[in-house]
Amino acid sequence: MFLCPICKNELKRNNNSLVCEKRHSFDISASGYVNLLNPGKMNNKKAGDSKEMIKARSDFFASCAYKGISDKLCDIVSKIKNDIIVDAGAGEGYYTQNLAKAHTSSFVLGFDMSKYGCEHGAKVARREGTTNIGYCVGNIFDLPLKNEYCDVVTNLFAPVAGDEFLRILKKGGHLIVASAGINHLDGLKGILYNEIYLNEEKFSPLDGFELVDIVNLKYQAQISGNDTIKNLFTMTPYYHRTCLKDKEKLEGVSEINTCIEVNFAIYKKKGMLQ
Ligand SMILES: C[S@@+](CC[C@H](N)C(=O)[O-])C[C@H]1O[C@@H](n2cnc3c(N)ncnc32)[C@H](O)[C@@H]1O
Ligand SMILES: [Zn+2]
Repeated sequence: MFLCPICKNELKRNNNSLVCEKRHSFDISASGYVNLLNPGKMNNKKAGDSKEMIKARSDFFASCAYKGISDKLCDIVSKIKNDIIVDAGAGEGYYTQNLAKAHTSSFVLGFDMSKYGCEHGAKVARREGTTNIGYCVGNIFDLPLKNEYCDVVTNLFAPVAGDEFLRILKKGGHLIVASAGINHLDGLKGILYNEIYLNEEKFSPLDGFELVDIVNLKYQAQISGNDTIKNLFTMTPYYHRTCLKDKEKLEGVSEINTCIEVNFAIYKKKGMLQ
């Protein structure tokens, strides 16, 4: 199913490697993911979440505070053709894994630039015996997949590579982009900042797609434990934008009540109906 990231020829399995006809070879890691970042492209060397960020995210997901987001995503995907799902910017694989478990006759492929994310996802899948899933370290702006490969692309809180998603989706296939809603994490921001600014909601038109629906999800969550609160903070964009003095306001905070608000923009690739 993969193309060589260097010459774009098909990759075939040869023991524990994927090899193309030009003998470019990519090892399948012990935990089961494959790294298909083009080694020649400089941009590919620096990006992707660090080991610490991936750990913070997976520790936070264990609190189940974002289970509502995952359930809503699975619900949306269950209503559309979903034989092959690509999770673009899968992170540590929380949503990828849940998509695979909720759609056992589908195949779910998670891509992320972070090898730590893919390693974590692959280990969880193996531990839980999930076989309809795969992970690939890859650049979502240059995916090693053939044209019109999949039925659904999911893209949660990650960069939106509209043209590349259009290329890999079958005609009539769906792209689901999840982003923070207006009041998302107001409880966390209330502790960090003197003034809570609301998130801006933007649903950009994407070339080749029709925006068919926007599903809003909103609920209150109680986040307990200082570690969990700090893990949540680490996985937000605020982590990089907040000054040390404000960051220190989280010290000793053991309980936050916050709004979780997410918008799922559902796009459909224009063309023939499936
Ligand atoms: C905020 S995280 C969201 C991860 C996951 N979807 C979630 O919600 O838990 C964004 C992810 O996008 C990944 N990422 C950023 N740019 C990327 C790119 N060009 N190709 C692949 N992954 C990328 C990062 O490594 C990170 O894991
Ligand atoms: Zn090749």
